[in-house]
Amino acid sequence: MTVPPLAPYPATRLRRLRQADWTRRLVRETQVMPSDLIWSMVVHEGEGTVPVASMPGVERLSVKEAAKAAVRARDLGIPAIAIFPHIDPSRKDATGSIAADPDGVIPRAVKAMKDAAPEVGIMCDVALDPFTDHGHDGVVEGGRILNDATIERLIEQGLMQAAAGADILAPSDMMDGRIGRLRGALEGDGFQDTMIMSYAAKYASAFYGPYRDAIGSAKLSAGQGDKKTYQMDPANTEEAIREVALDIAEGADMVMVKPGLPYLDILRRLVDEFRMPTYAFQVSGEYAMIKAAGANGWIDEERAILESLAAFKRAGAAGIITYFAPWAAEKLGG
Ligand code: PBG
Repeated sequence: MTVPPLAPYPATRLRRLRQADWTRRLVRETQVMPSDLIWSMVVHEGEGTVPVASMPGVERLSVKEAAKAAVRARDLGIPAIAIFPHIDPSRKDATGSIAADPDGVIPRAVKAMKDAAPEVGIMCDVALDPFTDHGHDGVVEGGRILNDATIERLIEQGLMQAAAGADILAPSDMMDGRIGRLRGALEGDGFQDTMIMSYAAKYASAFYGPYRDAIGSAKLSAGQGDKKTYQMDPANTEEAIREVALDIAEGADMVMVKPGLPYLDILRRLVDEFRMPTYAFQVSGEYAMIKAAGANGWIDEERAILESLAAFKRAGAAGIITYFAPWAAEKLGG
C-alpha cells in the first residue's frame, strides 16, 4: 500500500522551521528579557532576611537587604522592583492607621533603594491590608468595606510614598474611583511625574494564598470572610474591560491583570482593546505551585518558569511582576 503524499503539494511542513535551534531562534515571535521583569519583593521591619515558608526561595528583606537587592536588580538589568511590607501584628489596627507613616518600613526602603540604585524604578503597593488587623484592603464598618472612606486613607498613603521617592504607585485595593482621586492628589501636590500602575483587573482569587504568609496579613475577619465585594469575580471578562476603561479615563499610566497565568485571556483582550502598557502579576500562588511541583520532581522547574514567563509575553504583556525576577534575569541576561 502506498502512503498518499502530504497535501497540499509542494508539501507544507511546519516542522522544517523547527529542526534546529538556530532556525527556531530565527522564527521566534517573542522573547523574554530582563527588561520585561518587575521584581516582586517583601520588606520587613526587622534585620536580615526571613524565609517565607510557602514560597521557597523568597525571603522577607530588611531595608538594608532591600537596598542591596536594588543594586542586584540594576546589575541584572531588571528595570523595576515592586515592594510589599510585612508589618508586625502588634502594630496593626482596624483602620490601618500606620499605613501612611512617613517613617514606616516602606518609605525607608524606598529611600534606601533609590540611594543605592537610583536607576531602578520603585513601585509601591497602595493598599491597607498589610496594616489592618482584619486583613481587608479598606476601612470596615458593620461588615462592609467602605469605598470612599478607604480612598481618603489611600491618598494619604500614596502621597507619602511619592514623597519618599516612589516612582510608580500601584493601587491594589479595587475601590471605585481611587485612580482619579489619587491622580488629582498627586498633581495637586507637585508629583506630576509619579506614575500610576493600576491593579485594574484584579480578581478575588485563591492564588494569593502564600502572599498572606509572606506579608503576614491577618486572616480575613470583621464580618467579611472574603474580598468578593471589591475584587472581581473570576467568571467575568466584560467587566474587566469596564474596570480598565475607567482606570485609564481616571489617569492610569499602566494597567495590570492579576493573577497572571490563569487570566491570559483577559490580558490579551485588554491589550487588543486599549493598547496600553499592560502588565501581568504572576502571583504568590503561581510561584508556589511551580516551586512545589519542581521540588517534588513532578515538573522541570526551570523550564516551567521560563515557559510561564514566555506565555505572558506571547499574550501581550508589556512586562511581568514576578517573584522569579532575579533568577530569571540571571538565566536570560547576558
Ligand atoms: C492586596 C494585595 C494582594 C496581593 C498584592 N496586593 C493580596 C490580596 O489582594 O488579597 C497579592 C500578591 C501575590 O499573591 O503575590 N492589596
